[in-house]
Amino acid sequence: MDKNLLEATRLLPCPVVLLSVGTKGKQDAMTATAMFVAEDVPLLTVSVAKSSTCHKLIEETGEFALNIASAVQVGLAKQLGASHGAKVDKFKKFSIGTEKATQIASPLIAGSSANFECKVITSSAAANYTVYLAQVVAYKAADAPQPLSWYQNKYFGFGKQVK
Ligand SMILES: Cc1cc2nc3c(=O)[nH]c(=O)nc-3n(C[C@H](O)[C@H](O)[C@H](O)COP(=O)(O)O)c2cc1C
Repeated sequence: MDKNLLEATRLLPCPVVLLSVGTKGKQDAMTATAMFVAEDVPLLTVSVAKSSTCHKLIEETGEFALNIASAVQVGLAKQLGASHGAKVDKFKKFSIGTEKATQIASPLIAGSSANFECKVITSSAAANYTVYLAQVVAYKAADAPQPLSWYQNKYFGFGKQVK
């Protein structure tokens, strides 16, 4: 891709989420981003590379958990974004603590800013990605959420409120 156009994609501040999917038989997690598209009912989208292991598992299960990364999970976000689950169990390798979800089989990642349980409604192909539209069917939030964001290839915590 033209270098300037690739850099344009880095100018959009993004929430950092840790997508987890699967069951004890085969589970995986990756770093991703997401956006809400509707509030009532709560619908969001994620775009997942077709080459990723998580993509395969979402196709098989029709669900995933979105764990909104907290600032203290920045190391884990880097690890999950730079490794592939095809041959390695990332949960063991990175000693990821999990919690049981209430509405889906996929595990939740402990220590996150919030955890969303999501069921896929529709999907569409976009270049080398599949864009999933999913409904949040359950969620929980940390007592003091500290979401992590990504901008210009760098990670940021939340700054001070401006309004
Ligand atoms: C900050 C950040 C955001 C990312 N966002 C996405 C994303 O939205 N979609 C995607 O397919 N990959 C994204 N990635 C890359 C995946 O996390 C990476 O390809 C991962 O190795 C896939 O893991 P898997 O093969 O085990 O599923 C992102 C990586 C980072 C570091």
